[in-house]
Amino acid sequence: MEASFKKQVSQHLEIEAAFGITHLVSPAGSLTARPILESREQKTKSLDALREEYKNCQMCPLSRGRTHVVFGSGNPEAELMFVGEAPGYDEDLQALPFVGKAGQLLTKIIEAMKLKREDVYIANCLKCRPPQNRNPLPSEIVICSPILEKQIEIIQPKVICALGKFAAQTLLKTDEPIGRLRGRFFDWHRGIKLMPTFHPVYLLRNPGDKKIVWEDVQKIMKELEVSI
Ligand code: URA
Repeated sequence: MEASFKKQVSQHLEIEAAFGITHLVSPAGSLTARPILESREQKTKSLDALREEYKNCQMCPLSRGRTHVVFGSGNPEAELMFVGEAPGYDEDLQALPFVGKAGQLLTKIIEAMKLKREDVYIANCLKCRPPQNRNPLPSEIVICSPILEKQIEIIQPKVICALGKFAAQTLLKTDEPIGRLRGRFFDWHRGIKLMPTFHPVYLLRNPGDKKIVWEDVQKIMKELEVSI
C-alpha cells in the first residue's frame, strides 16, 4: 500500500474511532468484524483482564502441580510474537516465559534479529508446567490453547513464530512434523502470518541446526521490514 494512502486510511480510521466506531463491518455481516485502532492502553487492559481471568485457573490437572500460571510477557503492540510449548522449571518459579536456558537462547535469537525482548511478545501453548517437563497432552492443549488464541487476538501481531512441534501443530491444527512445517509462512487468521521453526530446547541439543533457525528468522525479519 502506498504510504500516503496508508496515512489517509489511518486518519480516516482515527476520526471514526473518535466517534466511537471501533469495528469494521463487512457488507456480508458481522462475522468479519474486527477491532480497529486498538491503542496500547486498550491492549494492555484486555491482556490484564485475561491474565486476571486465568490467574487461578483450575481447568486441568496441571493447576495442581504449578507454582504460577505463566501467562506471557512482552509488548502488547508487538509485531512479532513467539509461541513456545509450556513453562519449564524456571518459568514456573518466576511466572515468566522463556527465562531458563532455552529462554537465554531465545533472547540471543531475538537480539540477532536486531530486536529486544521488550519489542516482542512471548507466550506458550500451555500456561502451566507439565510434571518433569513432559510433553503436553492433547487434552491439555484443547483446554489451554483458547487462552493463547485470545492473546493473539488482542495483540494482533503481524507475524507469529511458532517454536517447535507443539506450537506449530497447535496453531495450524495439523499433525505434520515440524521438519516439514518449518521455514515457510502460513496464513494464520486475519492476515497474520505464521512461521514455524525449531524450538530452542531442540537447538540446545542440536546446535548444528542453529543455522536453519537463523534462515527461518531472517525470513521473518524480511517480512516485518516489508510490512512496516
Ligand atoms: N520452553 C517453552 O516452550 N516455553 C518456555 O517458556 C520455556 C521453555
